[in-house]
Amino acid sequence: MNITMNPSGGLVQSAVNAPMTVDIPDSFLNEALQFREMMMMYTCAIREVKTKLEVLNDDLAVRYQRNPIQMIKSRVKKPLSILEKLKRRGYPVSVQSVAENLYDVAGIRVICSFIDDIYVVAEMLARQDDVNVLMVKDYIRCPKVNGYRSYHMIIEIPVFFSDRKEKMRVEVQIRTMAMDFWASLDHQMKYKKDLDDSGEISEELKECAEIIAQTDLKMQSIRQKIENRADPSRL
Ligand code: GTP
Ligand code: MG
Repeated sequence: MNITMNPSGGLVQSAVNAPMTVDIPDSFLNEALQFREMMMMYTCAIREVKTKLEVLNDDLAVRYQRNPIQMIKSRVKKPLSILEKLKRRGYPVSVQSVAENLYDVAGIRVICSFIDDIYVVAEMLARQDDVNVLMVKDYIRCPKVNGYRSYHMIIEIPVFFSDRKEKMRVEVQIRTMAMDFWASLDHQMKYKKDLDDSGEISEELKECAEIIAQTDLKMQSIRQKIENRADPSRL
């Protein structure tokens, strides 16, 4: 197919501002359009799950004066990261392969105040009858050797588009603010970087993760004490 490129790089069908004509194979163009559609679908899936989480938070705030969720972050995996992961895992590079083989194209990170909030939110999400939990990795009960802690769920939810319903997969990572602090810095400094480390840096990071985990437990027990002493007539 002959496609005309305008000077800003966009695809147009008519000649504007002395464009150049390039011959783009139909198969490439098709795949590009399908890729764009797929990314739109993952963006919509994120929106659906985000709304579910916000509803839970609002409901818990009204019922129990609790806001278990402090913050929700989300992202759709970047095309280069998608390509890199397909190649690393030995999967074919195609739109169909992304849909079949990758579970983390749509990602949501839920930041909670306390450890028990994580399990409350995870359980409430999993109980919803349009949510199908495909996989759970509890890196809180079983931290990674480097000290990483977080609760990961891969869920599948139906999303209704103009002409069809699609089941979309979303990775939900739930963690405390303290776990997020550690993971964000670990990611910035080290995760997925080839590091010439004799073990010293890893040990120090792991030590920080342990201290943070103890602080999380301590904060939770303080909250419990406060709740036990609070005046019940306030509710
Ligand atoms: P990826 O290929 O990285 O997606 O890992 P995976 O498919 O084997 O899944 P896993 O559940 O182990 O990790 C998924 C995601 O959790 C990662 O993409 C990171 O966002 C986060 N994660 C896992 N391990 C670590 C870690 O050691 N440090 C940090 N900072 N994040 C981690
Ligand atoms: Mg990932």
